[in-house]
Amino acid sequence: MLSGIQPTSGSFHLGNYLGALRQWVAMQDDHDAFYCIVDLHAITVEQDPKVLRENTRVSAAQLLGLGIDPDRSALFVQSHVPEHAQLSWVMECMAGFGEAGRMTQFKDKSTRIGTDRISVGLFTYPILQVADILLYQTDRVPVGEDQRQHLELTRDLAQRFNSRYGKTFRLPEAFIPKETAKIFDLQEPTAKMSKSVPAGVIELLEEPKRLAKKIRSAVTDTGREIVFDPANKAGVSNLLAIYSSLTGRTIADLEAAYEGKGYGDLKKDLGEVVTEFVTPFQAKVKSFLDDPAELDKVLHRGADRAREVASVTLARTYEKVGFLRP
Ligand code: TYM
Repeated sequence: MLSGIQPTSGSFHLGNYLGALRQWVAMQDDHDAFYCIVDLHAITVEQDPKVLRENTRVSAAQLLGLGIDPDRSALFVQSHVPEHAQLSWVMECMAGFGEAGRMTQFKDKSTRIGTDRISVGLFTYPILQVADILLYQTDRVPVGEDQRQHLELTRDLAQRFNSRYGKTFRLPEAFIPKETAKIFDLQEPTAKMSKSVPAGVIELLEEPKRLAKKIRSAVTDTGREIVFDPANKAGVSNLLAIYSSLTGRTIADLEAAYEGKGYGDLKKDLGEVVTEFVTPFQAKVKSFLDDPAELDKVLHRGADRAREVASVTLARTYEKVGFLRP
């Protein structure tokens, strides 16, 4: 199995954790796991080199802090494994221009940034993701709902390659948890919690007091009842979903516990739940960041392991398309 995360914003947020990273940690028990910090993807938009370097380490420290075990899983940085960029080129040659243009994440971003300022890299971004996945003969890809379309593209391109050149790639499946497939923004509870909209985002490295305050000012509705009803009560339902997935209590149990209580009670308690979650996590991240040499060593070891697998797939792919052996 393989999955990836962008190092772009420093702190991961609760959507990343509940939608994907929690599954990363759980699935390493019974999968041969590859986890990639996708720094090549991070340069598709304008960025600051110093910040990228720093955020890549902070990302690694967070993954370790959440429980990724580098003795069981290959934790690595995408640019350390050149096969990602190399396979990406081959897969770009398999993809249709119109097909790439239909990727909704690209369409959203290009509308926001404007097509004049957008890079070609942002356009081909999903195909680099295809390469990330196919290099490891991946069966399962734990991600949030927003990545579903990229996973479908991965299967389409893998299938197209296999039927043109003979069986080369395994067809991967997205693993998207139903309850937490999409965590919503606290201020705009019909939009996904996202790094590009900082207000309403629960950042795992943010000061717990500020997080509790953010939760207290989460947008709800003019009603009073604490019930899970995403269509009519998006804000309250999002808070319940977060509460339930952080504590393991069912939604029905929470609804019963908060019967007759107010939104303020729910928000205050959720603030405490989140504080209890982030406090030990932040301490662990700090201790990993205190030893950057060790952190780099872990990442180099992960890259060595990743290359063992990735180089075999790339060599086979090059052979299939008719490149001479180097
Ligand atoms: P990224 O870095 O935006 O997000 C990392 C993971 O977090 C999930 N996620 C969410 N899940 C639920 N609710 C939310 N509000 C929410 N926001 C983010 C994402 O679905 C993702 O699983 N293109 C990918 C990175 C990538 C990748 C890959 C993923 C590159 N190569 C190969 C899987 C396999 C991305 O930008 O994720």
